[in-house]
Amino acid sequence: MNGLPFEVPGAPETPLFLAPQAGVSESPFRRLCRHFGADVVLTEFVSAEGIVRGNERTTAYLRFHDDERPLGVQIFGADPVAMGEAAALVTETCEPDFVDINFGCPVKKVVKRNGGSGCLRDLGLVARIVRSVDEATRLPVTAKIRSGFDEASRDPVAIARVCQDAGARMVTLHPRTRADMYSGTARWEEIAAVVKAVGIPVIGNGDVRTGQDARRMKDETGCFGIMIARGSHGAPWLFRQSRAALDGRHIPGEPDLATRFRICVRHAENAVAFEDDPDKAVREFRKHLGWYTKGVPEGRRLRQRLFRVEGLGEVRSVLGEHLRRQGVFPGVDELYRYRGIGAPNGPNRDLAAAGSSVSQESALATDR
Ligand SMILES: Cc1cc2nc3c(=O)[nH]c(=O)nc-3n(C[C@H](O)[C@H](O)[C@H](O)COP(=O)(O)O)c2cc1C
Repeated sequence: MNGLPFEVPGAPETPLFLAPQAGVSESPFRRLCRHFGADVVLTEFVSAEGIVRGNERTTAYLRFHDDERPLGVQIFGADPVAMGEAAALVTETCEPDFVDINFGCPVKKVVKRNGGSGCLRDLGLVARIVRSVDEATRLPVTAKIRSGFDEASRDPVAIARVCQDAGARMVTLHPRTRADMYSGTARWEEIAAVVKAVGIPVIGNGDVRTGQDARRMKDETGCFGIMIARGSHGAPWLFRQSRAALDGRHIPGEPDLATRFRICVRHAENAVAFEDDPDKAVREFRKHLGWYTKGVPEGRRLRQRLFRVEGLGEVRSVLGEHLRRQGVFPGVDELYRYRGIGAPNGPNRDLAAAGSSVSQESALATDR
């Protein structure tokens, strides 16, 4: 099997991918995950029609920092011509490392217009889209697929072969059908079947929640790389844990409460710095606050407060107060001190270089 069609620093044997996730895998989160060991990241899916029309909201999804690379821009749509035009525009204007095509999105609004997993009802259309995108860009083209539209049409091997034959240079499989949505468990044996059937790298995706899961997916499927979505929510350090598991090293434990909150605050700061409207950025960050505080002592009460926060200062004070209530010292001061570490959206190495006050984060982070 050939390697990935783009360069990955350090050439890891099993590269770890942060999954495209609408409303989650935005630039600040992508950078954080890169810091914690994700080797490759993708943008959330971006509408080809929106790109072609120059829609302002759509093009905002295309923004990324150079230190996120290697990065793929993921596009979706059912019109091969628009998909090709979008790929050409993306190549010209933002030059990502690859262009990924979404054949997996199960959301009604997208499927209704034959986009995302809607395309899987017509493999001829899948081929035309991949070919059109491949002809329109000099960048490598990749595809992210589900196992089929429904149980009756379930055939991940056929779908992956169609993508490969039409020019895709890597395929990621989330082995559920559109009809499954997120129910049941991902059928990893389908990843193994696709690995055997195609000559391009296959990235396994679905239900990786721990470092051990990543190891097990590699062992059971022989996939080239591993993509993680939900497991990273409020836990970007999962990449670090996965890397250790894949390397057969001791898997770092979960960070302690103060470390977890510091990582959360840093993520929030970067999110606010990235968006034009800081209040909106904090409101949209509330979901991350919910995830970062999952399973923490007295978490329910804490989340009730966090779901109402309006600004960054309030995020810091609510989290700092919670640390104090839990008897974690230094708590608030550390959070404030932490604010001074690295410019928001500054280089990722800021955190690792920050010294003993963030020693656990440094231990969790990669050497990158
Ligand atoms: C909130 C959310 C948004 C998602 N958005 C996208 C998307 O934009 N493009 C895509 O290909 N998949 C998207 N997915 C699917 C994930 O990339 C992934 O295939 C799926 O969640 C299974 O992986 P997991 O078990 O690691 O979560 C999304 C998933 C979630 C939970």
